Amino acid sequence: MEQRSAPKCIAFFLLPVLACVHYAQANPGRPPIHSIFSFGNSYADTGNFVKLAAPVFPVMPFNNLPYGETFFGRPTGRASNGRITMDFIASEFGLPFVPPILGKDRNFTGGANFAVVGATALDLAYYLENNITSVPPFNSSLGVQLDWFRQLKPTLCSTPRACRNYFKKSLFFMGEFGGNDYTFLMAAGKTLGEVASYVPKIVRSISAGVEAVVKEGARYVVVPGQLPTGCIPIVLTLYASPNKRHYDRRTGCLRKYNALARYHNGALFEAVYRLRIKYPAAKIVYADYYAPLMDFLKKPKKFGFSASSKLRVCCGAGGPYNYNMTAACGFPGASACANPAARINWDGIHLTEGAYERIAGGWLWGPYAHPPILKAMRQ
Ligand SMILES: *[C@@H]1O[C@H](CO)[C@@H](O)[C@H](O)[C@H]1NC(C)=O
Ligand SMILES: *[C@@H]1O[C@H](CO)[C@@H](O)[C@H](O)[C@H]1NC(C)=O
Ligand SMILES: *[C@@H]1O[C@H](CO)[C@@H](O)[C@H](O)[C@H]1NC(C)=O
Ligand SMILES: *[C@@H]1O[C@H](CO)[C@@H](O)[C@H](O)[C@H]1NC(C)=O
Repeated sequence: MEQRSAPKCIAFFLLPVLACVHYAQANPGRPPIHSIFSFGNSYADTGNFVKLAAPVFPVMPFNNLPYGETFFGRPTGRASNGRITMDFIASEFGLPFVPPILGKDRNFTGGANFAVVGATALDLAYYLENNITSVPPFNSSLGVQLDWFRQLKPTLCSTPRACRNYFKKSLFFMGEFGGNDYTFLMAAGKTLGEVASYVPKIVRSISAGVEAVVKEGARYVVVPGQLPTGCIPIVLTLYASPNKRHYDRRTGCLRKYNALARYHNGALFEAVYRLRIKYPAAKIVYADYYAPLMDFLKKPKKFGFSASSKLRVCCGAGGPYNYNMTAACGFPGASACANPAARINWDGIHLTEGAYERIAGGWLWGPYAHPPILKAMRQ
């Protein structure tokens, strides 16, 4: 049933946008969703980091064009040329883009975004206690984001019952988390094997995050996994290998970094499965970033992407992947490609709006979420 809503919205494209919004809200069989609450990192941040880090970094790439050039026409703090996955999902539910909790917009009736660029699953204090100093000193972990949520709660609802009813009609996103933890552990000089030993702890932290919001009354929780880390241009650049066998022949990705991501995703998928059994009233969705990105890289043309530049960054400054860390997107020396719509990767780490749009569709209708979000809502 929902499968038909996208073409119908497109059929209405000459009418005012409201026609489309009304259709989405009146979609039969779909419960009304009044708000979105999101926890995560740079794949979900819509403007928190640029506020949080402003006193420390007067110049931040995400605050500069060409970030935001394609959709907003200005930088918004999103790490993309335009909208991110969650923006497309908010629009599907007829909701405004989810406002960042640290932003200017103080009306959070329709939801709030707690995600911060660089956020980790484990607390900063944990890393400091263990002498892992490669983690940037921003206090923005999953646990801190949950604290922000608890501080916001009394402004949204006043009795436990009212709050549970409020969050029952919300859509929650718990992640992506873990990618930064693994990156910082690698930067601290840990071997990939040592990094992998953190997977159970990190997955437990994400699982505890889901449990925390379910206990607040959340009914719909989307839990995104890792991207294929070995296909990310910054990883391909930093960990380039002279050994051809380290690369996947079909995609050109670094195999062992993808193996770590798959290990994390397998453990997270299992944790989500266990949560579903523990909380049968909640609809907990595992959202896949790994499979869509691999599909785009294996069959770029099928998805509308350029085959010749699939691993090449759109906004960069030369090199085999058009990625140069000392001249990253948003800084002098880097510039955006002419046609971002044909590219998968935007800045060496994050994806283009076009890639996020296709992923959002796969999370809503399938095949990139288990179960697809709209199917979970019909059950
Ligand atoms: C806050 O936003 C909601 C829609 O999300 C709107 O209905 C409400 O009137 C707004 N409240 C204020 C005080 O602006
Ligand atoms: C961290 O470093 C301090 C000082 O070098 C040392 O005393 C402490 O035992 C270390 N802690 C861990 C968990 O390695
Ligand atoms: C981070 O913030 C939390 C409150 O959310 C606080 O309890 C904790 O001490 C802070 N940690 C650091 C390392 O600043
Ligand atoms: C990266 O950018 C810096 C600064 O613009 C430049 O000096 C350097 O040669 C570049 N490196 C590569 C590999 O292109």
